[in-house]
Amino acid sequence: MKTQIIYCHPSRQSYTYEILKQLEANLKKEGLEYEISDLYAMGFKADMTEEEYNREGFINIDLPIPNDVKDEHKKIEKADCIIFLYPVWWSDCPAKLKGWFDRVYSVGYAYGYNDEGNKIEKMKKVPYGIVICTAGHPNEFLKEIGIAESMRNVMIDDRLGKRFTNKEMIILGGTLDKEKVRLIHSQIIESIGRKIKEYCA
Ligand SMILES: Cc1cc2nc3c(=O)[nH]c(=O)nc-3n(C[C@H](O)[C@H](O)[C@H](O)COP(=O)(O)O)c2cc1C
Repeated sequence: MKTQIIYCHPSRQSYTYEILKQLEANLKKEGLEYEISDLYAMGFKADMTEEEYNREGFINIDLPIPNDVKDEHKKIEKADCIIFLYPVWWSDCPAKLKGWFDRVYSVGYAYGYNDEGNKIEKMKKVPYGIVICTAGHPNEFLKEIGIAESMRNVMIDDRLGKRFTNKEMIILGGTLDKEKVRLIHSQIIESIGRKIKEYCA
């Protein structure tokens, strides 16, 4: 049972990094195998080249898939659970993670299958996907202004979509007052390993 963590934050001094460390400790405690794709540390390229756009925009699957994208495909294929961990920036994920979806969800692989698409291996259905985002605003406020729902719609209904069997969105809000939320956030992270075992058994 393998978990792939797609982690996106530029700073190791961040609260989101603290959450990553807690998540790792929990997965270790539960005896779960995991791997981290630290998008900033990897220097993952978020922007598409013109050739990549031509492949996606015109469904030209004869154009090559870049090697860094192929590497991410391989990680997806090995995963039973994928966790996306990032801070909310302007009501969405950081641009680097958005670029991960733009580039890694390539046509014929993650969408737009057709007969010709047989030349390309199609993305597996991942048993469990968890989106964990830290947010400055408290959860109640994000719900009240409709942003919690819009983030859920985009991440869970669209980006994870039918590619994942079980899906969950966890908003760790209220980080502007960290001392108030730290304990409840760590309790939520403590439950992740158990859920992975349940959904990926
Ligand atoms: C560029 C930027 C944009 C942000 N936009 C939002 C936002 O739209 N909503 C929100 O609740 N918090 C927002 N925040 C606050 C972060 O979500 C918060 O700082 C983060 O979740 C936790 O801090 P960390 O950066 O130490 O991990 C933003 C922070 C930055 C730096």
